[in-house]
Amino acid sequence: MGDISNSEKPWGGRFNVSTDAFVEQFPASVRFDQRLAAHDIKGSVAHAKMLAEVGIIDHDDCTKIVIGLEAIQAEIDGGKFEWSVALEDVHMNIEHALIERIGDIGKKLHTARSRNDQVATDIRMFLREQIDAIVDGLEDLMHALIDLAEREAATVMPGYTHLQTAQPISFGHHMLAWFEMLARDRERFIDCRKRVNVMPLGAGALAGTSFPIDRSITAALLGFDEIAENSLDAVSDRDFAIEFSAHASLLMMHFSRMSEELVLWNSQQFSFVQMGDAFCTGSSMMPQKKNPDVPELVRGKSGRVFGHLVSLITLMKSQPLAYNKDNQEDKEPIFDTVDTLIDCIKAFRDLIPSLNVNAKAMREATEKGFATATDLADHLVRSGLPFRDAHAVVGAAVNRAIERDCELKDLSLAEFKEFHPAMTDEVYTVLDIDHSLNARDHLGGTAPARVRTACKRARERLNPST
Ligand code: ARG
Repeated sequence: MGDISNSEKPWGGRFNVSTDAFVEQFPASVRFDQRLAAHDIKGSVAHAKMLAEVGIIDHDDCTKIVIGLEAIQAEIDGGKFEWSVALEDVHMNIEHALIERIGDIGKKLHTARSRNDQVATDIRMFLREQIDAIVDGLEDLMHALIDLAEREAATVMPGYTHLQTAQPISFGHHMLAWFEMLARDRERFIDCRKRVNVMPLGAGALAGTSFPIDRSITAALLGFDEIAENSLDAVSDRDFAIEFSAHASLLMMHFSRMSEELVLWNSQQFSFVQMGDAFCTGSSMMPQKKNPDVPELVRGKSGRVFGHLVSLITLMKSQPLAYNKDNQEDKEPIFDTVDTLIDCIKAFRDLIPSLNVNAKAMREATEKGFATATDLADHLVRSGLPFRDAHAVVGAAVNRAIERDCELKDLSLAEFKEFHPAMTDEVYTVLDIDHSLNARDHLGGTAPARVRTACKRARERLNPST
């Protein structure tokens, strides 16, 4: 990070006194925005080509600029580029390096452009690339969930409400519930990408430019689907990043819920699943411990992503049009959100196929807690009782079973008949867990056959063409 005098700074012209030492580093963003270098360079190459195409600079100059920028990219890739805090940000560092490398021709690159439209373009290019990676990762994870759901379609577990045993469900059905949560997250990211992939370049500082630029050339070169319609809006709003951050928060909220369930299920008390050793860590003091650190950390990391959403929306509120330096504060929350998401997706993608499902423990747990009481009430309804009366009859039978410290199926038929004469031998069939599961045979139901069909549909939804 060398010393740079004001005269060397791209904006140094109107300044007589050199920058205060604190102010030299306080507004600097290069420490973190150097991450945008590749996008910045791609944007500059496209801008130079457009300038040449419409005759604002000549083709030879353009070629020199492009070769210079490519050499800078190689230097950055090789870790040899020297970033200077005095040059504030990634944009001025690269422009300065270009001028040092190719001389005065390099000074033409910034014609008809401002850092304001430049940075807005860079961050959108970065974000669309990351959204693609996030969607790819989510799809891999969703496939892993479908595979597990299909394998465990007939594995019964207690379904819970209020964390109390409610009704028997298929473990595969539970995995597909996770799939649905992620399917909506995936759709949200895909939808948000449309609003991200709009090109601000050409908006200049705020009012456009007096040069005869052709924004469709740069948009085509950079793969933007649309061109921002209003120059003030193009340089100032970061709503696309806030939107992304909101979707990221929803995904992390889902991941956090999935993590919570895995932590519970992996506990000795539940023992529904076992996470492989590769996904657990030990305790420094208690030799017996094998802790589910990975889902715990994912659950914990949801906090930072929610926090970034609040940072970004707060950063935007009250900003008058058009660009303000506040917007520089968008980078770190965006970068950290993206990194956290990519890590958490990877964690789940690898963890899901490694899960050891303990079908026996889940069946035993389902057998306790009167999970099929509703089936018995439904059965009485089919014998002609109104549902409310059937509910009361079964409630009384449950009370009896609690007094006896047994399950409903352990009561004799004579006892059942005490509660209602319509009770027949059939009660033992309807109280059976697999019978209960198979009976929920409709779209969205938990019958294993339905779960298998739902797996097929889920695969088709992910790959509509196959
Ligand atoms: N580093 C700045 C940012 O991230 C680039 C734009 C600076 N523009 C300006 N007029 N100071 O927002």
